[in-house]
Amino acid sequence: MRILLTGSRGQVGRHLLARLRERWEVVAWSRAEVDLTDVAAIEAGVRAAGPDVVINAAAYTAVDRAESEPDLCAAVNATAPAALARAAAAVSATMIHYSTDYVFDGTLDRPYRPDDVPNPLGVYGRTKLDGERAVLDSGVSALVLRTSAVYDLEGRNFLQTILGRARAGEPLRVVADQVTCPTYAGDIADATVTMLERAGCRLGESHGLHHVVSRDGASWYDFACAIVTEAGLDATVLVSAIPTSEYPTPARRPAWSVLDGSTTAATFDLVMPPWRDALVDAMRRRPSSLRAA
Ligand SMILES: NC(=O)c1ccc[n+]([C@@H]2O[C@H](COP(=O)([O-])OP(=O)(O)OC[C@H]3O[C@@H](n4cnc5c(N)ncnc54)[C@H](OP(=O)(O)O)[C@@H]3O)[C@@H](O)[C@H]2O)c1
Repeated sequence: MRILLTGSRGQVGRHLLARLRERWEVVAWSRAEVDLTDVAAIEAGVRAAGPDVVINAAAYTAVDRAESEPDLCAAVNATAPAALARAAAAVSATMIHYSTDYVFDGTLDRPYRPDDVPNPLGVYGRTKLDGERAVLDSGVSALVLRTSAVYDLEGRNFLQTILGRARAGEPLRVVADQVTCPTYAGDIADATVTMLERAGCRLGESHGLHHVVSRDGASWYDFACAIVTEAGLDATVLVSAIPTSEYPTPARRPAWSVLDGSTTAATFDLVMPPWRDALVDAMRRRPSSLRAA
C-alpha cells in the first residue's frame, strides 16, 4: 500500500510518519514539499504520488489567530481538504482526514456523538466543519476522524508550556470550566494505523465520521494538574483554577466538548485509553520530555 501523508511535521503527522513507514510505502509532505494553499500543487502532487490512501494530518490549528486570519484558515482547513479529496478520488485513492471537537458549541449535556448537530463558535471550528463536509461530500471513500486537545512530548503545545512554567516555579492559572478530552498524538496515530489495518485501504463500510479521543473528559485545569503531578511537582501549590471569564481569548471555545468514541470502538474494535492513563504512559515512556522547557 502506498500512502500520501500531509502535515508530516505536525504533532499527529510526526507520529503517523514513524508508524506508517514501518508498514507501508509513504510519500510525506510537509509545508516545504507542498504548500496546501496551492490547489494546483495539490492536484499535480497527488497525481504524481499515485497513492492508495491520502492521509491529511495538516491543518491551520492556531485557534485564536484564526479569528484575524479567516481566509488563510479556510484555505488550509476547508479548500485544501476539498482539493485533496477530489484529487484522491481522481486516482481512485481513499482518504483519512482529521477534524475537531470545536465543531460543537458545547451546550449538550452528554458526550457528543458523530451525528450530533455541529455549531462551531469560531473561525477554526467553522473552517474545520467546512473541511469535513467537503471531504465527505466529494465522493471519495473517507474516514473523518474528530479528535481533541492534542498534545505531544515535543514541540510547542499545552503540555510543554505547563511543564516549562511549573519547573520554573511560576504559578499557573488554568481554566476549569472548559471540559474536553486531552488526547496524545501518538495514540491518534496508533488508532489511525489500527483503523487502516482493520478497514483495509478501501475503507469499505466504515466511510464517515468517527471520534478518536481518549476516554473521559477533563478540564484544562485537570489536565494541567495531572501534567505537573506526573512531573513530580506539587500541583496544589502551583496550579489554580480560574473561570474562562478571567482568561479572555479572541476565539470563543465550547465549555463542554467531550466526544463519544463508542461508535469507533464498535466499528473498529478499538478502545482508546482513559486520558489520565494515556498521559502517564506517554510521560513515563519519554522521561527526557520532563527536562524540556
Ligand atoms: N492540536 C489540537 O489540539 C487539535 C485538537 C483537535 C483537532 N485537531 C486536529 O488534528 C489534526 C492534527 O493536528 P496537530 O495538532 O497535529 O496539528 P499541528 O501540530 O498544528 O500540525 C499541523 C501541520 O499542518 C501544517 N500546515 C499548516 N498549514 C499548512 C500549509 N499551508 N501547507 C502545508 N502544511 C501546512 C503545519 O506545518 P508548519 O509546521 O510548517 O506550520 C503543521 O506541520 C488537525 O486536523 C487538527 O485540526 C487538533
